[in-house]
Amino acid sequence: MKKKLLFLGPPGAGKGTQAKLFCKKYEIDHLSTGDLLRDEVSSGSVLGLKAAEIMNQGELVSDELVLSIVEGRLVNIDQGWLIDGFPRNINQANSLKKLLEKINQPLEAVILIKIADNHLIKRLLARGREDDNEEVITNRLKIYREKTSPLIDMYSKQGILEQIEGNDDIDVVFSCIEKALGI
Ligand code: AP5
Repeated sequence: MKKKLLFLGPPGAGKGTQAKLFCKKYEIDHLSTGDLLRDEVSSGSVLGLKAAEIMNQGELVSDELVLSIVEGRLVNIDQGWLIDGFPRNINQANSLKKLLEKINQPLEAVILIKIADNHLIKRLLARGREDDNEEVITNRLKIYREKTSPLIDMYSKQGILEQIEGNDDIDVVFSCIEKALGI
């Protein structure tokens, strides 16, 4: 079974929801840069305060900060991992590639969860996280299109991208992911 995975998709696509279920069922590590950054914010550290300002505008925090978080975590995992929310741009993707080469753990599959804007906006407004208001969601979507969506083409060319429809019940989306991974 493939155990070195990335979940990609716009804000609200269900990456975090599906990643948690998948990692619980298949006993691999879940690494969410959004969750790790929110932990940093909750700790009240200087780094966290800086990150909160950026996150609350829907912008990306610096590549250096996110990379240091990911690197620190990945080197200690050997039973498999699923990353969600990273990479978010080409620079992060290139850095991840180098890191995975260094630790000899090549990426095995990327799951793209697709969903139309109107559905995800409705979901995020219902959730109501600090960055879930219309203005910030619009900016998160803009950033996703400009900076993150080029990764779709990149992973597709590498032959490791699988596309899933995200606008279905949670268990249906989960089954589609398993099927795409040949489970
Ligand atoms: P992050 O936490 O990664 O936010 P995001 O990508 O905007 O994703 P979301 O958590 O909003 O959505 P999701 O796809 O995980 O959906 P979820 O399962 O939660 O990042 C937040 C911020 O941190 C960024 O804006 C940035 O500032 C910073 N950051 C993070 N990573 C970074 C990086 N690599 N570089 C730089 N900055 C970074 O579901 C959403 C809602 O929908 C939930 O309420 C859920 O219950 C519901 N739901 C899920 N699936 C379904 C379904 N099938 N049917 C109905 N409802 C559903």
